[in-house]
Amino acid sequence: MRPARALIDLQALRHNYQLAREVTGAKALAVIKADAYGHGAVPVAQALEAQTDGFAVACIEEALELRAAGIRAPVLLLEGFFEADELPLIIEQDLWCVVHSLWQLEAIEQARLSKPLTVWLKLDSGMHRVGLHPKDYQEAYQRLLASGKVAKIVLMSHFARADELDCVSSNEQVTVFEAARQGLAAEVSLRNSPSVLGWPSVSSDWVRPGIMLYGATPFGEDQAIAARLQPVMTLESKVICVRELPAGEPVGYGARFVTPKPMRIGVVAMGYADGYPRHAPTGTPVLVAGQRSRLLGRVSMDMLCVDLTDLPQAGLGSTVELWGKHILASDVAVAAETIPYQIFCNLRRVPRLYSGA
Ligand SMILES: Cc1ncc(COP(=O)(O)O)c(C=O)c1O
Repeated sequence: MRPARALIDLQALRHNYQLAREVTGAKALAVIKADAYGHGAVPVAQALEAQTDGFAVACIEEALELRAAGIRAPVLLLEGFFEADELPLIIEQDLWCVVHSLWQLEAIEQARLSKPLTVWLKLDSGMHRVGLHPKDYQEAYQRLLASGKVAKIVLMSHFARADELDCVSSNEQVTVFEAARQGLAAEVSLRNSPSVLGWPSVSSDWVRPGIMLYGATPFGEDQAIAARLQPVMTLESKVICVRELPAGEPVGYGARFVTPKPMRIGVVAMGYADGYPRHAPTGTPVLVAGQRSRLLGRVSMDMLCVDLTDLPQAGLGSTVELWGKHILASDVAVAAETIPYQIFCNLRRVPRLYSGA
């Protein structure tokens, strides 16, 4: 059997969720959209359900997968509905629904609903992605109340630059949010992972941690609370071939790496078809037989090469950690000029093996 696999540590996941709760004292919706950032939405939800205040997903299809697996906890649709005809199913499945646009508000006003809806009313406080304009916010709130279709409203917004710890934009967004919600007696939800970890002064009855649940830091620099996160996913495989090459020999597609001296090369069963970033350059860290080493040459679809020259104890069959507890996904992300979010979401083909259930 091909040795490539992703080990998912559910104990670490629960630790990270508790950390979000502990540092904020808030209720926390575990963000498990995009198949729990590649970790498997159903097993992740099952592992968290006993302790969580609820989950957040991107769309009704993701929510239905959770309900079909027996998850009964609240599930928030972060973009609400895409078409008004999703509303009956949202009610039937007891889902919570973001309203980010006036057309959604109008659809709710016009819908015939068998039960009132829980709405998270989203403000565009400066990110300019989705969310109501501040001038429309109070009126939208009042219209939802007046519609008689809504049981509860939570006021929410989203930060654009909370991962930049010295950037004033998050404070400016809070100011816009506070002005827009003035006088509205409702719970508030502002904080995503970078804000949970790095912006203790932002008050938020509900927090929405995503990337931190999976143990990766959203920051490009060291941060004290992020240092307490535990990586959840270990992507590993094995060395399936060893080559001794003299100086001046090319390795892999495009001869992107040429041996500067006699070298020992290990070929690993892992490639971009598994989600390993093709753009990871020579030098990207890997762990081989417990020792740090580096990627060499271009990543192929199913294989990649690593340096065994200074690792005499490593050889055929040695275990290789591509990311996990020793090689942080965020370090691989930096090397490949991407973010750990994408590193995780890109995972495919490899079997996921769960522990700590
Ligand atoms: C509205 C909303 N809240 C929370 C999150 C979670 O963000 P993070 O993974 O940075 O914690 C996301 C993710 O994109 C989001 O879109």
